[in-house]
Amino acid sequence: MKSDTIEYKLDGGIAILTLNRPEARNAISRRLVDDLGSVLEAVDATSEARTLIITGAGGKAFCAGADLKERAGMSPEEVTAFLATLNRRFTDIENFRLPVIAAVNGAAFGGGLEMAMAADIRLAAESAVMGLTETRLAIIPGGGGTQRLPRLVGMAKAKELILTGHRIDSREALKIGLVNRICPLEDLLDRSRELASEIGEGGPIALEQAKIAINKGMATDLQSGLAIESEAYARCIPTEDRLEGLKAFREKRKPVYKGR
Ligand code: COA
Repeated sequence: MKSDTIEYKLDGGIAILTLNRPEARNAISRRLVDDLGSVLEAVDATSEARTLIITGAGGKAFCAGADLKERAGMSPEEVTAFLATLNRRFTDIENFRLPVIAAVNGAAFGGGLEMAMAADIRLAAESAVMGLTETRLAIIPGGGGTQRLPRLVGMAKAKELILTGHRIDSREALKIGLVNRICPLEDLLDRSRELASEIGEGGPIALEQAKIAINKGMATDLQSGLAIESEAYARCIPTEDRLEGLKAFREKRKPVYKGR
């Protein structure tokens, strides 16, 4: 699939989506938000894809957030419409049927960090810097940041980061649980691919259902969450892959899962 703002390729079952506006530090323009929708649809339709990695082009930024130059020319109504679309896209990432890894290769501010937070797992370059800096622009995070950040790092830390607008380095991000792992920039894509391959060895339906159980369960109370888990488990029981897993164990070989 061809897009001006996002590069997409499939590499051994791993879909790699690269935000591709390096001259604007991959800032999120209206065009990029639209393209993100089309690319996610294209990945969704690719049966060979088992995992998705999102990263940024240019080596300096993962994504510098909303395109502030474009924003300056938008009417209040246009800003509202943009935010609604942005929120839908990030929720699409969160609920994407494949596991999503954000490879945070540089600056991730505002909407850039919000996009990374919608992913399932974040790997960051040691040189990466992150922050929800919106209050400094007299706005608030509008792509899910006030909701996803406290869920990841706890309310106290989230309030500190959002109210100060502080930029933190990747070591601090690792310490507070905002990112899962850090590594040198030059290793980031390889480490992300390795993790994606490891995850991709699991049964596709199981991976999808595990995500659903965690995402939905975290938004409710424990008893309802346990019911959601049972429902998700039940969807794995009638699958061919479950039987293949048991057979492969018996035959002491790697399972070959087909997503059925
Ligand atoms: N929207 C639009 N353009 C942006 C942008 C954004 N969010 N962030 C950076 N750019 C543009 C710059 O204006 C500059 O354009 P120019 O060459 O026409 O002047 C170009 O990208 C390079 O930016 P620069 O600041 O020189 O790059 P850098 O590598 O030194 O720093 C950042 C990168 C991301 C740290 C820095 O640009 C920055 O802090 N951007 C603002 C991020 C922000 O506050 N986002 C919150 C949005 S709510």
